Amino acid sequence: MASKTIPRALRLSSRVAVPRRTFVSAVRARPSAATASVSHAPAAVSARGIKTIDFAGTKETVYERADWPRDKLQSYFKNDTLALIGYGSQGHGQGLNLRDNGLNVIIGVRKDGASWKEAIQDGWVPGKNLFDVETAINKGTIIMNLLSDAAQSETWPQVKPLLTKGKTLYFSHGFSPVFKDLTKVDVPTDIDVILVAPKGSGRTVRSLFREGRGINSSIAVFQDVTGKAKEKAVAMGVAVGSGYLYETTFEKEVYSDLYGERGCLMGGIHGMFLAQYEVLRERGHSPSEAFNETVEEATQSLYPLIGANGMDWMYAACSTTARRGAIDWSPKFKDALKPVFDELYTSVKTGKETQRSLEYNSQPDYRERYEKELEEIRNLEIWRAGKAVRSLRPENQK
Ligand SMILES: NC(=O)c1ccc[n+]([C@@H]2O[C@H](COP(=O)([O-])OP(=O)(O)OC[C@H]3O[C@@H](n4cnc5c(N)ncnc54)[C@H](OP(=O)(O)O)[C@@H]3O)[C@@H](O)[C@H]2O)c1
Repeated sequence: MASKTIPRALRLSSRVAVPRRTFVSAVRARPSAATASVSHAPAAVSARGIKTIDFAGTKETVYERADWPRDKLQSYFKNDTLALIGYGSQGHGQGLNLRDNGLNVIIGVRKDGASWKEAIQDGWVPGKNLFDVETAINKGTIIMNLLSDAAQSETWPQVKPLLTKGKTLYFSHGFSPVFKDLTKVDVPTDIDVILVAPKGSGRTVRSLFREGRGINSSIAVFQDVTGKAKEKAVAMGVAVGSGYLYETTFEKEVYSDLYGERGCLMGGIHGMFLAQYEVLRERGHSPSEAFNETVEEATQSLYPLIGANGMDWMYAACSTTARRGAIDWSPKFKDALKPVFDELYTSVKTGKETQRSLEYNSQPDYRERYEKELEEIRNLEIWRAGKAVRSLRPENQK
């Protein structure tokens, strides 16, 4: 597609019912009767904050925070001390949200490490609500293990004996217990083990909470000793700042998460970008043209529209030339890529990806090794061209 002020593919065809929509209004548009295809909002049967929602013919249970106002959360957790271990991306977001919800939350991190210092900057006070890991676990009733996944495995021999009967163990990723043969995280059999996995970075967990909204999260129960594990998972999900909670299992959460980030979220999409860019360059196109046609138009114009309205809307909203070609080529890409996705899922499920991740991320020089790889990516022509293209965006012009 040509990359003009308004990309050609975005010039709305006469068949779209909103032909005079500007690009900006199109981006902001929600699926509605005004769009070319009718949007089918999921039918919801609601019982207080619990909804059974029909997702394309499959009914799923979704919990929402409406059922857990702040005073109810405070009353539910009035006898609990939430000991949040690790203060990285998730620790920061979930910890501050718990504190703002008026719950009794303490932080446990390595004394004088980077997280310790960051926690102090965020107003946590040593000896009051900031402790070393062991002290925090001893004081806590709900132990939120938000160390990095590699660190969860590394510290397990010290952490496990502290998880005494009556405590609850909380994760934000199924990684450690699901792949216990590799991580060695074999949870004690006499405690509840629950999961709340926000579908976004800890920074988003925090910013959405501050905006009065909530992030979508998955919840799951690995082990229910008290008979209250699911209720606790839902309450914890709301308490850390979720808006909607989707029920899953530890296994499905970790499989889909590892698969997605290696696929369409990052690895796969980077591979597609590189393949398309390289062919354009080999066929004589300039770096700016190759970048604009591969990345800039995708991320700045089309992907937000697909996110807001769906693929059918996108096809309907582009020129008939773009629509014909895109619909024709989509199955070819699907057929070429599906075996790769299949191989990827198997690699996730068998633990191969976990093994690779644990081995790599527990090397003493893993940060330097990553930096070297990232430097190589930064120096690829496509991303150097991208830097120049981004500098020309109106918002980056002084
Ligand atoms: N990041 C996300 O977007 C995201 C989203 C959903 C779920 N999750 C899950 O949430 C959990 C936490 O992830 P995260 O990204 O927040 O982690 P992270 O930013 O990598 O946090 C690392 C934390 O682990 C501590 N740590 C590292 N090695 C340690 C060791 N050997 N001993 C003691 N502490 C150590 C660090 O403390 P120091 O500063 O002292 O090194 C830091 O507080 C993971 O299970 C992850 O899969 C993450």
